[in-house]
Amino acid sequence: MLFWKKKKEPLTPKNEIKEPQEFNTFGLNDILYYIKREIGVDLFSKNSIIETKLRLFCEKREIYSFRKLFEHIQKDTLIRQALIDLVTVNETYFYREEEQLALAVDFALANSGMIKILCAPCASGEEVYSLAMMLHEKNRSAHSFSITGIDINSEAIEKAERGVFSERSLHKLDNKLKDKFFTFQDKSFVTKKEFFSSVSFKKINIFDYDFLALGQFDIIFSRNMLIYFDDEFRLKTIERFSKLLNHNGKLFLGHADIIPDNPFFTKYNNQRLSYYVKN
Ligand SMILES: C[S@@+](CC[C@H](N)C(=O)[O-])C[C@H]1O[C@@H](n2cnc3c(N)ncnc32)[C@H](O)[C@@H]1O
Repeated sequence: MLFWKKKKEPLTPKNEIKEPQEFNTFGLNDILYYIKREIGVDLFSKNSIIETKLRLFCEKREIYSFRKLFEHIQKDTLIRQALIDLVTVNETYFYREEEQLALAVDFALANSGMIKILCAPCASGEEVYSLAMMLHEKNRSAHSFSITGIDINSEAIEKAERGVFSERSLHKLDNKLKDKFFTFQDKSFVTKKEFFSSVSFKKINIFDYDFLALGQFDIIFSRNMLIYFDDEFRLKTIERFSKLLNHNGKLFLGHADIIPDNPFFTKYNNQRLSYYVKN
């Protein structure tokens, strides 16, 4: 009878055992300034939450100080993008603030020519798809409008382009809308491409040159991004929006997006809704 000797596990050489590395938190402010300067997002008030998040981000990549991370983000575009994806909040859903979307759709319908809408930011695209759905519901032909969604978060833009959404993201839609515009596959809702030939997405930072090269628009939606900026960056942003808007163009902001007094826009109220018209 043969007895096989149990193979002994090789002992890990001593020098391969990884000692837990001490993390040096010095330099966090440089990273927060960098984020604010590059994308406008002001994280200074969330210092302790962001410190924990960034620390985990570093340790996953075997980076053991914020100083080192700062060096990495200057030269490594992949790590820079991963950092931006980490610190941006992409919460959104279909038919969010439906009345405001409907008001914009009314403005679009009043214009018989080609209508161009920009959603900056669009996160994972639900706002863009919602506007397209509402225009379809009003029998506006897909050839007579275009909706561009931009966002700085690469994962959100990839999701927008895939057009695959969870039940949660569609919680405001009734079954009729779900059946008309989506197919249900593997527990997800997939957009029916034939309805959305007029929507497109791009990964763009609103502070980059590419943003001003997007062309001219009749309506801009910018909801729930300015709340992450300070007044200086809010002002910079709306100045850029005014450059992209046609004469009489309209700007829709989120309810919490308060902007400083400025020479670019005049605020109008329509019952409990408000919007801005380019001066
Ligand atoms: C909460 S989402 C808003 C999505 C949608 N507008 C809504 O209200 O449902 C905010 C988005 O702003 C984007 N963002 C932040 N700074 C940006 C910048 N500088 N350029 C482009 N997008 C930015 C984030 O990536 C995030 O997806």
